[in-house]
Amino acid sequence: MSYDTYGHTPSHKAFDLLDVYGIAYDEERAARKKVRLAIIGVGGVAQSKYFPAIARLRMIWEPIEIVAFVEPREADARKVQSVYGGKWYADYRQMLVEEKPDGLLVLSPDHLHAEHTIAGLEAGCHVLVEKPISRSLVDARLMCEAADAAKRTLMTVATMRYSPPYRRAKQFIERGPVSNPAMYVGKFNLGYDYVDLFESGTIHLFDLTRYFMGDVATVNAVGVNRYEKNRRRYPIDNAIATFEFVSGAVGTIYTSASALSFKPWMRVEIYGDKVWLAVDDQSELILYDSEEGPAQSWKPIVPNTLLFDEEFGGFMGIVENFAQVIRGQETPVVTGWDGYRAYELKTATQLSLARKEKVTLPLDDLAAADAEVLAWLQANGWPGE
Ligand SMILES: NC(=O)c1ccc[n+]([C@@H]2O[C@H](COP(=O)([O-])OP(=O)(O)OC[C@H]3O[C@@H](n4cnc5c(N)ncnc54)[C@H](O)[C@@H]3O)[C@@H](O)[C@H]2O)c1
Repeated sequence: MSYDTYGHTPSHKAFDLLDVYGIAYDEERAARKKVRLAIIGVGGVAQSKYFPAIARLRMIWEPIEIVAFVEPREADARKVQSVYGGKWYADYRQMLVEEKPDGLLVLSPDHLHAEHTIAGLEAGCHVLVEKPISRSLVDARLMCEAADAAKRTLMTVATMRYSPPYRRAKQFIERGPVSNPAMYVGKFNLGYDYVDLFESGTIHLFDLTRYFMGDVATVNAVGVNRYEKNRRRYPIDNAIATFEFVSGAVGTIYTSASALSFKPWMRVEIYGDKVWLAVDDQSELILYDSEEGPAQSWKPIVPNTLLFDEEFGGFMGIVENFAQVIRGQETPVVTGWDGYRAYELKTATQLSLARKEKVTLPLDDLAAADAEVLAWLQANGWPGE
């Protein structure tokens, strides 16, 4: 599969090949070198997203295998093992020594990402770490530097980059007609309050903003705590940030923990010269490029016999890209440094909220920035991770 080619994904071959389940023998894919993966942390996202995505990839002949996983909770470990197989370890060090996997998926809680990622890199693995890359800029930089030192690839999860409508939008920027965009608008509805609005949710949008528009030069943010007093964990429940990009373009994002979370829970608009586009999360891209003609709309074509979320949610795409990177056949669509920059943008936005002033990127004193954000969170009643 080429990630440059919109629509060239497994489900789209189903009708052509008279193969409504999309599982016909795929010679090219089956001939790929086998990749041995291991997972640290098989909780919610592993069980509901990664294992189903990997099972589907295997069904369409992708030679990858979860040889082992690490999980302290015995009940979950036994369930996962009975459904998907793989050897269960309670200790990641033992697993890394005994299994020597080619690639490691770090799907553990945020505060353990740095420890697990650096251990995997030092053991010789390529690593794909869930978002946010870490809970501190200092650790995030250490992780990226550890990958560079070990000459291994570190990727940070950014599944939207692999979702076909967003990939199509990226092509429209790179190849026209939305070249050199002047303005960007993005929104994110987290919609619930049991995880942190910025670190756990809006981080997806911080990454997507950079993906489309490049690095941010300044950020200016305002926020409000309208509904959450006494019932939510985060200092603010709704926020808006405006950006000046290094390219000279401008943009804004808005994010909400209080509104409900239904698709499209994310939305992106990108404005060019006599043209603009909108992506409603993972479901539709609309291009407005003519005064006379109707707008053009791209919606995913999914045969009703096939699964939707694994592919359009981007989880199949990121795992396959990771496997192809390990084989030396593709470059990463998202790197560890992208994860670092997304986290830096999140941090700069919080600094702007805390200081009530415009903040310039890149941030220099990472430890001071981490400490200032933590102080702001704690001063506003944040209970901690
Ligand atoms: N990309 C996405 O859309 C998305 C969605 C949800 C979660 N996430 C991210 O995925 C990660 C996991 O989130 P989750 O919702 O699955 O959480 P979770 O708590 O359900 O799962 C984490 C798992 O890690 C295990 N764990 C804890 N300590 C461990 C240790 N020392 N060694 C090994 N395993 C350990 C836990 O027992 C648990 O099973 C987080 O970083 C989160 O931000 C990403």
